[in-house]
Amino acid sequence: MAISALGNLAIIALLLLTATSAITASNTAHEGFLQCFLNHTQSSNASSHLVYAPNTTAYNTVLRSSIQNIRFLYSSTTKKPVLIVTPTNESHVQASVICSRKYGLNIRVRSGGHDYEGMSYVSDHEVFIIVDLANLRSITVDAEHSIAWVQAGATLGELYYTIGVKNKTAAFTAGVCPTVGVGGHLSGGGIGTISRKYGAAADNVIDAQLVDANGSLLNRESMGEDLFWAMRGGGAASFGIVLSYKIKLAYVPPTVTAFNINRNLGQNATYLVSRWQQIAAKFDENLYMRVIAQAVDDSTTGNRTIQAVFNSLFLGTCKELVTLMETSFPELGFEAKDCSGSEMSWLESVLFFAGYSNESANILLDRRPEYNSSFKAKSDFVREPIPETEWEKIWKFLLEPEDEPLVMIMEPFGGRLSEISESAIPFPHRKGNLYIIQYFMRWFQIDPAVTKRHLDWMRKLYGFMTPYVSSHPRAAYLNYKDIDLGRTDKHTTYKDARVWGTKYFKNNFKRLAFVKATVDPGNFFRNEQSIPPLLVL
Ligand SMILES: Cc1cc2nc3c(=O)[nH]c(=O)nc-3n(C[C@H](O)[C@H](O)[C@H](O)COP(=O)(O)OP(=O)(O)OC[C@H]3O[C@@H](n4cnc5c(N)ncnc54)[C@H](O)[C@@H]3O)c2cc1C
Ligand SMILES: *[C@@H]1O[C@H](CO)[C@@H](O)[C@H](O)[C@H]1NC(C)=O
Ligand SMILES: *[C@@H]1O[C@H](CO)[C@@H](O)[C@H](O)[C@H]1NC(C)=O
Ligand SMILES: *[C@@H]1O[C@H](CO)[C@@H](O)[C@H](O)[C@H]1NC(C)=O
Ligand SMILES: *[C@@H]1O[C@H](CO)[C@@H](O)[C@H](O)[C@H]1NC(C)=O
Ligand SMILES: *[C@@H]1O[C@H](CO)[C@@H](O)[C@H](O)[C@H]1NC(C)=O
Ligand SMILES: *[C@@H]1O[C@H](CO)[C@@H](O)[C@H](O)[C@H]1NC(C)=O
Ligand SMILES: *[C@@H]1O[C@H](CO)[C@@H](O)[C@H](O)[C@H]1NC(C)=O
Ligand SMILES: *[C@@H]1O[C@H](CO)[C@@H](O)[C@H](O)[C@H]1NC(C)=O
Ligand SMILES: *[C@@H]1O[C@H](CO)[C@@H](O)[C@H](O)[C@H]1NC(C)=O
Ligand SMILES: *[C@@H]1O[C@H](CO)[C@@H](O)[C@H](O)[C@H]1NC(C)=O
Repeated sequence: MAISALGNLAIIALLLLTATSAITASNTAHEGFLQCFLNHTQSSNASSHLVYAPNTTAYNTVLRSSIQNIRFLYSSTTKKPVLIVTPTNESHVQASVICSRKYGLNIRVRSGGHDYEGMSYVSDHEVFIIVDLANLRSITVDAEHSIAWVQAGATLGELYYTIGVKNKTAAFTAGVCPTVGVGGHLSGGGIGTISRKYGAAADNVIDAQLVDANGSLLNRESMGEDLFWAMRGGGAASFGIVLSYKIKLAYVPPTVTAFNINRNLGQNATYLVSRWQQIAAKFDENLYMRVIAQAVDDSTTGNRTIQAVFNSLFLGTCKELVTLMETSFPELGFEAKDCSGSEMSWLESVLFFAGYSNESANILLDRRPEYNSSFKAKSDFVREPIPETEWEKIWKFLLEPEDEPLVMIMEPFGGRLSEISESAIPFPHRKGNLYIIQYFMRWFQIDPAVTKRHLDWMRKLYGFMTPYVSSHPRAAYLNYKDIDLGRTDKHTTYKDARVWGTKYFKNNFKRLAFVKATVDPGNFFRNEQSIPPLLVL
């Protein structure tokens, strides 16, 4: 008894000692960083205004400015940054890398703050700084040559707006949410309404600027084709800090048609979703039709039902669409009246998909988060249609939660997405995929019990879906990042990380780990799901 009490005391003393020395170490580190950063950037007059310490009032505002998933802010197990740096010049990014490395601080790079697991602004174990690129967001469009340079801190909304107002028939293939950051999105793939025609966003990156672990500013030529390959779909966070991308624009007709068709269980939703699976990936590549399914109260009966929204974009007129639908999907019963009033410019279709009705296009420049809420998502790829009888069981899962709905967003593949080879870039989801499912749940309470309940729903449905989706590996989409798939720390080896790495990247994972070893052998750029270096092939 006495011995064990003494033992406990010794342990407590040891813990206290470790805790104190950790605090001292991190204080020294971030003060050292600050000195070093100011030293490196002193020619730039504003440099001290670029750094926010936790003891300033602005720190919280800057930290919160682009966070989409607030649950990590209230988690007792996650750490917040010791400093936030907001560069306005490339040289500030270089100084951040050089000085963090010198003082042993981890870096989290943030562009749009949409990371599903908060990896751009919190950490489990690391003492870290945020390099927030929101001020580096200039966009230069050369519409005549169908190219643009876009800085990483720009949002998709800013990019679409800048392209769309310059040239009505120019566009870029990427995701639908306007506040998503270019920096994270293009480095993880990027899929949206015109991906069946033009591929993923990362397929359309033709050059880039990146700061590596040595603080060197590189472009495609100086970084070499291996690193340029890796940063287009492999998640740039494992390799460096992207400053800008040169992208290839897409052609869109001056008139497009954006529309929703809603069907509930009483209107054959089960049959129609089941049929949609078989044909949506084979539609004309000008037609994108995704399905958003969730439980709702039927407006006429008041009963709970499943509503399937066929949320669609056609690159053409309503008249052309009616003809196409008669041959492509007659079961839906689509008529001319379903698209009357739905003709618009491509830029207006961006507003439509973002859920805006008659707001003017410059709302796309609003970078503030649409919600200050928590969410959890997971993804799956479907390669064989799921039988109609099984959909009845899936609906039961969606009908079960009584507060916030569990939403299934199903986006068709096929077209250009499927023509590109699996190894062209690290984004490997190509031929053979009919569609991707994103399971998504959003909630507003920060009570840990509420969070747990939602995570449990999500994991239960994911378990149930196992027999119906891709296997060996059960593939997942990096931009819908899911920490349940596996976790890394600085000691994780390539072999251990393979479990989740092959889900995101299939056979590209090995090459990614090898590229990592050549450009960042010391694993400076790391997070809870980063690629470990593979030193020997
Ligand atoms: C509401 C919502 C809608 C979405 N819609 C779509 C969609 O339609 N299609 C789709 O494909 N995806 C979609 N996504 C997912 C989105 O593509 C990813 O979350 C993406 O990674 C977000 O990029 P970000 O810059 O906003 O995020 P951040 O949180 O800033 O960054 C995400 C990751 O990338 C790293 N990173 C960010 N910037 C850089 C940089 N400059 N250099 C190196 N690493 C960097 C971060 O460190 C982090 O690991 C959506 C997400 C949300 C929340
Ligand atoms: C900052 O620069 C001064 C003068 O060049 C140098 O003496 C000092 O060591 C530097 N400090 C850091 C932290 O780099
Ligand atoms: C430095 O910044 C301050 C405050 O932002 C400004 O008043 C001053 O004119 C600047 N000096 C130079 C030389 O740019
Ligand atoms: C805030 O913290 C920084 C860095 O540790 C320190 O240099 C500064 O003096 C502090 N400011 C205040 C007002 O306490
Ligand atoms: C960064 O500063 C350099 C040198 O002053 C300048 O040439 C460059 O244009 C700046 N970059 C940005 C993005 O402002
Ligand atoms: C507009 O964009 C289209 C498609 O990218 C391009 O073919 C055309 O030349 C551009 N027009 C102008 C005036 O820039
Ligand atoms: C549902 O689909 C079946 C088979 O196509 C069809 O016979 C039936 O009329 C449809 N019902 C409704 C309400 O559309
Ligand atoms: C609505 O639900 C009630 C109770 O379950 C049921 O009696 C009724 O038939 C339902 N109405 C319709 C239109 O399905
Ligand atoms: C949208 O249009 C309706 C009807 O014309 C109008 O009442 C409403 O104020 C408009 N909303 C916005 C945001 O402009
Ligand atoms: C979310 O929080 C940010 C930062 O505090 C704020 O600017 C924004 O208006 C909030 N958005 C909503 C929808 O409440
Ligand atoms: C980084 O710098 C070290 C030491 O100068 C050098 O050996 C290494 O090759 C550099 N790495 C890259 C990717 O340039």
